[in-house]
Amino acid sequence: MTDAGGVAAHVDAGRLWRRLMALALFGATPKGGVSRLALSQEEAAARAQIVQWGETIGLEPSVDAASNLFLRLPGAEPDLPPVLIGSHSDSQPTGGKYDGAYGVIAALEALEAIKASGRQPRRAIELVLWMNEEGSRFAPGMMGSAVFSGVRRLEDIVGIKDKAGVSVGEALASMLAAEQKLPRRPLGFKAAAFVEAHIEQGVTLQNEQRTIGVVTGIQGKRTFRVEVEGEESHAGTSSRADRRDALVSAIAIARALQDAMWDAEDAVRFTIGMFSVAPNAPSVVPGRVVFSIDLRHGDAETVKRLGDMIPEICGNARGACEVKIRELLYDAPIEFPASIRKLISKTALRLNLPHRELPSPAGHDSRYLHRVCPTGMIFIPCKDGVSHNEAEEITPGDAAAGARALAEVAISLADSEVIDPR
Ligand code: GLV
Ligand code: MN
Ligand code: MN
Repeated sequence: MTDAGGVAAHVDAGRLWRRLMALALFGATPKGGVSRLALSQEEAAARAQIVQWGETIGLEPSVDAASNLFLRLPGAEPDLPPVLIGSHSDSQPTGGKYDGAYGVIAALEALEAIKASGRQPRRAIELVLWMNEEGSRFAPGMMGSAVFSGVRRLEDIVGIKDKAGVSVGEALASMLAAEQKLPRRPLGFKAAAFVEAHIEQGVTLQNEQRTIGVVTGIQGKRTFRVEVEGEESHAGTSSRADRRDALVSAIAIARALQDAMWDAEDAVRFTIGMFSVAPNAPSVVPGRVVFSIDLRHGDAETVKRLGDMIPEICGNARGACEVKIRELLYDAPIEFPASIRKLISKTALRLNLPHRELPSPAGHDSRYLHRVCPTGMIFIPCKDGVSHNEAEEITPGDAAAGARALAEVAISLADSEVIDPR
């Protein structure tokens, strides 16, 4: 077949939607969402399905030591570094059907469309699923892309444990055993470029009735783990004066942090999303509380200043208890190269898709790929900006439009002589 309408013309909206719905069955929740934690059995089953779809199309699967999964459409010049497209297949515990999954299925559709067009790209194009983007089972997230791009070392993440005491190393071993038939890739090979399609997780595109978001960059983020250590005692007998109640101290710390992070313009994003009390028994004064802090802002100086205030605020509000603060992640804001942004905008224009540039307040693996190759992101609208929620919703038309843009951007990068890193 010739390429009369470009590769985008070969995107099949029905097939894309059917695959999205089929993928959402792995870890499906009664409320219509998805619970598919990183390196879980549900994710292993979802990955096996994706590998099977890829093999049907003729893609070549492989996996690296961090369980990043690749499906390769070979290029005419096999020695050139590949263009990577994709996202992640893990979800939050009460996640939606599209965060991550959309970027994976859109990339699969883009590759199938390129194949159907009869064009062989110069460089290989590979669908990639990065390991543990969400960071809810093992914190921090974006682990697979971090080790791929050299931000973290594999040996530094294998000891991190989930709530049940299972380590990243153990979970990785199970996933790699389940996928032992797949050829092994080196960890961190050279990539020519990376493009990630994703739902917006905000309302800008919906409000302006635009289909494609050309992502300018990602806001800064710092995460912390706070441990408040008190002493367990009898709820009926220990006096207020004698208690070292870890919950009372943790509440005071949380209140003080909330107050310090308040800003009139509502640009600071401050979240305590995980809070655990031990022993969590009605008649025992809590001896220990562990909670998380997720702090984000678009401005590098503000992320630094606010994050640096956290230890002192915790210390001042700790009351009779001890407090330990560990910083898990510190990522400054980033800006994607103008060359990739322009390519996405030009492509959207050519495909007659209403588009605009916009920043990403949410984090993505693209943040780390940005360090090692020219990287960009394509957003599609998501209903009312609802995300990290089982009610996440998108339309089949927008999903197909994003895949059409992705297919064109991918082939154009794969065919270009030089990819401008600026
Ligand atoms: C990604 O899921 C994030 O938390 O930004
Ligand atoms: Mn995501
Ligand atoms: Mn997410």
